[in-house]
Amino acid sequence: MELNNKSEFIFFWDILISVLATYLAIQVPYDMISGYNPSGSVLILNLAVTTVFLVDIFIRFSQPLPHHLHATGHHISAAQRYLKGWFVIDVLAMIPYELIFTGHYSLFLTGLFCVLRLLKILRIVSFKAAWEYRIKLNPGIVRLVFFFYFLLLCMHWLACGWVKIRIAPPGADMLHQYILAFYWCVTTITTIGYGDITPNHDRNIELLYTMGAQLMGAGAFGYIIGNIATLLTNLDVAKTRHRERVDGVNNYMRSKKMPKLLQERVHHYYNYLWNTRKGYDDATILSELPESFRYEFALFLNENIIEKVPMFKGAEPALLKEILFFLKPCIYAPGDAICTYGDIGDSMYFINKGEVEVVSKDGNQVYATIKDGDFFGEIALLLKQPRNATIRAVGYCDLYLLSKESFDKVISDFPDFEKNIQKMAKERMSKQA
Ligand code: CMP
Repeated sequence: MELNNKSEFIFFWDILISVLATYLAIQVPYDMISGYNPSGSVLILNLAVTTVFLVDIFIRFSQPLPHHLHATGHHISAAQRYLKGWFVIDVLAMIPYELIFTGHYSLFLTGLFCVLRLLKILRIVSFKAAWEYRIKLNPGIVRLVFFFYFLLLCMHWLACGWVKIRIAPPGADMLHQYILAFYWCVTTITTIGYGDITPNHDRNIELLYTMGAQLMGAGAFGYIIGNIATLLTNLDVAKTRHRERVDGVNNYMRSKKMPKLLQERVHHYYNYLWNTRKGYDDATILSELPESFRYEFALFLNENIIEKVPMFKGAEPALLKEILFFLKPCIYAPGDAICTYGDIGDSMYFINKGEVEVVSKDGNQVYATIKDGDFFGEIALLLKQPRNATIRAVGYCDLYLLSKESFDKVISDFPDFEKNIQKMAKERMSKQA
């Protein structure tokens, strides 16, 4: 079985390790306050955890590096990387100190070693990025889940500490003591503080512990409120960003007292941008990526145009690859003049979605209406002459632009492509003659 970060097996294995690490994070502190006398089932469970953690060490050794770290996923370097990183923590967390030390050493010493087993919890943090990618949930929600998970664990540890420092009435039930302590912890951390469980004022340790918990509570509470507010705003990052952008542009237009009609057109344009692209601008995202990614991104984003443009069907793959890479998506609003008669042509266009009219110089005569899969603006580039018609967007138009430089490169690399376009251009010019 190929073991890599993406494999199903590793995903479920990571979940198993997290569940067992959580079990230890709960069980070990509880054992520390109730005394180590593992009963049959706990003993078996702890041994099972140790066995699984041991297997985990072997699995991590044989797990190749993820491809984003090492293109060939070389096993040796992956093992070396593991040895330098998580190996020590995994070994320390694997040893069943409670089974080795109980009965031989003091409760304190046993506890001190057992705390090392909690280190495995750190592993969960390292799985976070892979889970965010795999689960495909909003990263904000994943962060929130993680935050509450660690908060609950901290509260459990705090409650165990509280049980330990309190003097319990003789014969008190340990589980009840723990639940009382957890209740105290919740009311203190959330800053509710009913005051029904308070520290014994004659005992410094209880007073100091309570003050520590209160301070931690104030910090955590502030952190929770602040984070939840941010998380809620960020739940839909794209929408928030888009709204901020639109608000900014609206304010700007209002401050410049722009004509109402223009403001309305801009408003509709942003609505269209949201409905068709969820506010993302392909060109901006592409420009932020390194060259190597940009190529693959562009090919993927522009792929759908191949299906639409009849001229591309059956074209040789090398030509398609080159053109797809050069195409730049752009949007025009209804009524926009995409090309104007007599202008110098610096690009040609392919229609992805929408309809345009080819109109005469004075705008009164419509030579043709062309739509999805068609192209225009090629004559000026081929014949190096000014635009021979005006092109007007009928509705919103999703186009792909091929700049003059890119066009020249493509026709010099692929003369057949030039011949096809020339044929089409001649037909069009004859209709105007
Ligand atoms: P160009 O001259 O660069 O700019 C205007 C474009 O309109 C022109 O290229 C052609 O692509 C396009 N065009 C001109 N006449 C027609 C027509 N009759 N039918 C379709 N498209 C045309």
